[in-house]
Amino acid sequence: MAVRSISASVFIAALLFCSLALADKDFQYFRFILTWPGSYCREDCRDGCCMPTTGDPAEDFFVKGLYPYCENKPVKGCNVTKFYVNPLGSMISELYEYWPSIDCPSNNGVKDWNSTWTTYGVCSGLDEKTYFRRALDLRNKINLLSLLKKNGIVPSYRGVYDLRTIQNVIAKGTGATVAIDCNKNKWGRSQISEINVCVDKNATNIIKCPFNVKCWCPPRVRFPPFTLDMLEDSSTELNPIMMAVSE
Ligand SMILES: *[C@@H]1O[C@H](CO)[C@@H](O)[C@H](O)[C@H]1NC(C)=O
Ligand SMILES: *[C@@H]1O[C@H](CO)[C@@H](O)[C@H](O)[C@H]1NC(C)=O
Ligand SMILES: *[C@@H]1O[C@H](CO)[C@@H](O)[C@H](O)[C@H]1NC(C)=O
Repeated sequence: MAVRSISASVFIAALLFCSLALADKDFQYFRFILTWPGSYCREDCRDGCCMPTTGDPAEDFFVKGLYPYCENKPVKGCNVTKFYVNPLGSMISELYEYWPSIDCPSNNGVKDWNSTWTTYGVCSGLDEKTYFRRALDLRNKINLLSLLKKNGIVPSYRGVYDLRTIQNVIAKGTGATVAIDCNKNKWGRSQISEINVCVDKNATNIIKCPFNVKCWCPPRVRFPPFTLDMLEDSSTELNPIMMAVSE
């Protein structure tokens, strides 16, 4: 009976915590996710990747999003505040570079920013401008590709790296361990695809993840290059089809 009442109160406490958290639009920390386009554009990807309509993105890690988290769950479903492009004016070229959409058909990224803001950003406690600014600042602060390169971890088709070495380099450079996720290239080899960084509620300081982040990579991983020639220009691609139809 004693055991039962303890577990019941633990259960009730957990329940209270999360429902309170949602009612207050509250969360405990952020997960900031960077994605490696060289692995995103792996060749078995059905639709490939396309050049954004806004021009060349950086040959670097891209921001995927800044997600408020309650334990292991992203906090969503807050009251929707509409997304506007105007507040992003001062940082638009940085967004084009570091938070582009390379999905096909070619697009300007607005759809992704819009859905990230209305799904997660509205639960961040930040206004839209601050939310995107903090995400870009976090990317700049981590400066992951440069950190890796400085430590001899350079994108290449041949190189195979020890996951542990990569983790140590990032931990030393950022002051916290991060969770690395992998996907597979067309030969079934694991490659780095995403980096999950835990960040405090201010969206400014990198912290040790308070909860286990589920990510998986084998002990040895690839880190394939990303170059702009991997991005198709979907507008020129359309022309031959249109011509064929009219013939
Ligand atoms: C959401 O909006 C409704 C209606 O405007 C309001 O009554 C409610 O308190 C809001 N909820 C939160 C969590 O802000
Ligand atoms: C954001 O998305 C919503 C829902 O799809 C849409 O109605 C709205 O026009 C979009 N806003 C912008 C600025 O693109
Ligand atoms: C978070 O931001 C507030 C306001 O800018 C500041 O007072 C506080 O020290 C910050 N906390 C941390 C942990 O950086």
